[in-house]
Amino acid sequence: MSMVDIINKKRLGNVLTKDELREAFLGYDRGEIPDYQMSSLLMAICIQGMTDEEIYHLTDIFIHSGDVLDLSHVSGISVDKHSTGGVGDKTTLIIASIAASLGVIVPKMSGRGLGHTGGTIDKLESIPGFCVDLTEEEFIHQLNSIGAAVISQTKNLAPLDKKIYALRDVTGTVESIPLIATSIMSKKIASGADNILIDIKVGSGALLKNQEDALEISRIMKMIGKYYQKDVETMITDMSVPLGTSIGNSLEILEVIKILRNEENNYLVTLSKELASKMVQLAFKKEKIVADQMVEDSLKSGKAYQKFLEIIAAQGGDLSKIYVSPYTQEVSSTKSGCITGIDAYRFGKLSVELGAGRKTKEDTIDPGVGIVLHKQVGDYVQVGDTLCTLYLKENSNPISEDITSYFTFS
Ligand code: URA
Repeated sequence: MSMVDIINKKRLGNVLTKDELREAFLGYDRGEIPDYQMSSLLMAICIQGMTDEEIYHLTDIFIHSGDVLDLSHVSGISVDKHSTGGVGDKTTLIIASIAASLGVIVPKMSGRGLGHTGGTIDKLESIPGFCVDLTEEEFIHQLNSIGAAVISQTKNLAPLDKKIYALRDVTGTVESIPLIATSIMSKKIASGADNILIDIKVGSGALLKNQEDALEISRIMKMIGKYYQKDVETMITDMSVPLGTSIGNSLEILEVIKILRNEENNYLVTLSKELASKMVQLAFKKEKIVADQMVEDSLKSGKAYQKFLEIIAAQGGDLSKIYVSPYTQEVSSTKSGCITGIDAYRFGKLSVELGAGRKTKEDTIDPGVGIVLHKQVGDYVQVGDTLCTLYLKENSNPISEDITSYFTFS
């Protein structure tokens, strides 16, 4: 069947066979199908959805576009965690440090920013020298020596997802349950962990906007996990306000450091502790109360922070050279009252506009731009108080939009 026939078949809501999916996706992988035809098929999938069977097939195609990592040479129990995507979501770097400091092996294959949501790899690349492209041998060596490594998709691990992911990012084809499920699960299966924890984010700043979609993707991910004999746990968590105080790559790394040094306490910290505890429970079959205490001790004692520094150093990062833009713009409140909401979606879009994400596949990210929120939901503000600071690209014009409208007040 030609690519046009495959696109039309999906556009009309029909089910694609494994052979048709292979023809389209492997053809794209080989460079025989152009971006515009693949974008069109992805859009048809976004609109028409996929059956469970199509989702299995597509996941399998992504997984077998590369190798599946064999972690049998890594001693210890591994738990991988992945988020479905949010604004200011820097939990991976916090919880990988906590869990690894407690003896959990964390083999983490992460992605770049997607749509209005940020990506762990872009955040890590804002640390000068940090290498996200380890070979399989280097990855396994680091897991054995320090217990955690965070890498990008290499040429060998789910490489087709990497190509499709970059295309989805700039073609309005991100927000699709089947595409998110296949993308995440193919990476997780390919990176070889024994246990997988998925943080399913719901709310304006997430790719999934409501509880029903979150429950549906949870069902699909567990179903895929079962097929590949992996233990998949999901947690559905709120993403209606940005997570933590910063959005943007370098700024988020600096916030991770603050949290690991016990200098910040907010919902992001609570959520990170819950996720890390879940990883410990999965790895060591501990009671929740015991795992919670282990996580608390790791943070308080500074062990998690030490582990973070080890991971950064092992992958060549130099935190002393991190760049934050000196070109700033303050946003002051024009109202007084209690903040009842901060629109995560609009802040995510603004961060892309500032240069922290991509609008085309060719765009390069500016690591030093972003937003720091000075007020959180529940804070009382007076007219003139600074709500947030924008970090702008050199030589860019100030933002003329009314950013105060991203906040709601009672
Ligand atoms: N994270 C991924 O890796 N893929 C998606 O599609 C969404 C979030």
